Amino acid sequence: MTRICTQVGIVGAGPAGLLLGHLLHLRGIDSVIVENRSREYVIERVRAGVLEHGTVDLLINAGVGERLEREGMRHGGVYFAFNGTRHRIDFQELVGRSITIYGQNEIVKDLISARCAAGLPLYFEAADVAVSGFADGDPTIRFRSQDQEHEIACDFIAGCDGSHGICRESLPRGYERDFPFAWLGILAHAPPSSGELVYSLHERGFALFSMRSQFITRLYLQCVPDESIDNWPDERIWNELTLRLRTSDGWEPNRGEILQKGITGMRSFVAEPMRCGRLFLAGDAAHIVPPTGAKGLNLAAADVSLLACAFEAWYRNHREDRLNEYSDGALHRVWRAQRFACWMTSMFHRMPENEFDYRGQIAELDYVTTSRSAMTSLAENYTGFPL
Ligand code: FAD
Ligand code: PHB
Repeated sequence: MTRICTQVGIVGAGPAGLLLGHLLHLRGIDSVIVENRSREYVIERVRAGVLEHGTVDLLINAGVGERLEREGMRHGGVYFAFNGTRHRIDFQELVGRSITIYGQNEIVKDLISARCAAGLPLYFEAADVAVSGFADGDPTIRFRSQDQEHEIACDFIAGCDGSHGICRESLPRGYERDFPFAWLGILAHAPPSSGELVYSLHERGFALFSMRSQFITRLYLQCVPDESIDNWPDERIWNELTLRLRTSDGWEPNRGEILQKGITGMRSFVAEPMRCGRLFLAGDAAHIVPPTGAKGLNLAAADVSLLACAFEAWYRNHREDRLNEYSDGALHRVWRAQRFACWMTSMFHRMPENEFDYRGQIAELDYVTTSRSAMTSLAENYTGFPL
């Protein structure tokens, strides 16, 4: 058995865990990160792409934004399509802010490089990870690595292990909601045919056009929750995407080789409070939002920014108030984002055989794309509130 002592033990090397470790390092606070998957798996996992301006600033100010600044694609607006027409919402003009497209796996890559360059501890492929002692002042993380037992004794545990992790199980209460649909997502070798994202409501269901670079398109379409990817050969995916996205001005997504495809269920969940004794949850471990609002990764960044400041106040000034305020402070943003993501989801997704709701959704989109106050509210929420 190897015993390791540190200040903050972090479970999970997704964006939340890695960014927290980095922010703590900048504040002179030690941490050890434990991840149950391999480095390759974590780096290659394709997920989020939309960064709020506050997330971009946070990464740049933390010194891990060099590639993001060079390769990220800045978008000053977004398109909403319905009834065969695309309508642009100009974020820059409405609220003076923009979003940046940069893959979540690229952020993870940048953070792992920074951690390795600083020689800080990060265990991949950790088996049987377990947390204990956080309720009675003796927080401990146990795991197995390369057939050796390890024990981390720490002052605090940060549960950053996502929606299927182990840390959430220790929290007493949560609120949840299921949605009767899922997303089929693809990554394709095709140059984006639009300079900005296109969210589309079609009679056949929702579709989303996004991108990762000048050569790579990312697309999603609404499907049933228990859909099997085997039912979706490439040709069927492209035909369905084209049907749902094509507009009467002739715009449609470019086709190309499909590099990756998968199905993701849609769910809302909020753990409340996000703390149990000396265990603090951050990111998807604490909350899941439907991806239609593009908020999950941004919430994870906001949580750890708050948590790093709270740990700093504790270690530097022996102040406990910031730690006590963490859960309420984070939840204020989380519920705002949850509301926005659920609203976007209900506006864009087709409920089976519900013509009444469909007509209401079209009326709502018509309002959101023509009323300046509605567009301003959308732009303010989509580009994100200051950290
Ligand atoms: P995760 O990324 O899930 O990381 C958790 C880590 O913990 C993982 O590496 C996992 O392997 C590890 N782990 C799990 N269990 C254990 C254990 N027992 N022990 C040790 N380690 C463990 N968000 C946006 O902001 N914008 C978007 O555009 C967007 N698009 C999305 C599109 C899709 C299709 C999906 C599915 C999500 C999208 N999101 C988006 C959400 C975003 O991807 C998540 O919110 C984000 O990954 C949360 O980061 P995290 O670090 O909290 O969790
Ligand atoms: C993405 O690019 O992966 C993406 C964009 C917008 C969303 C969700 C995902 O709402």
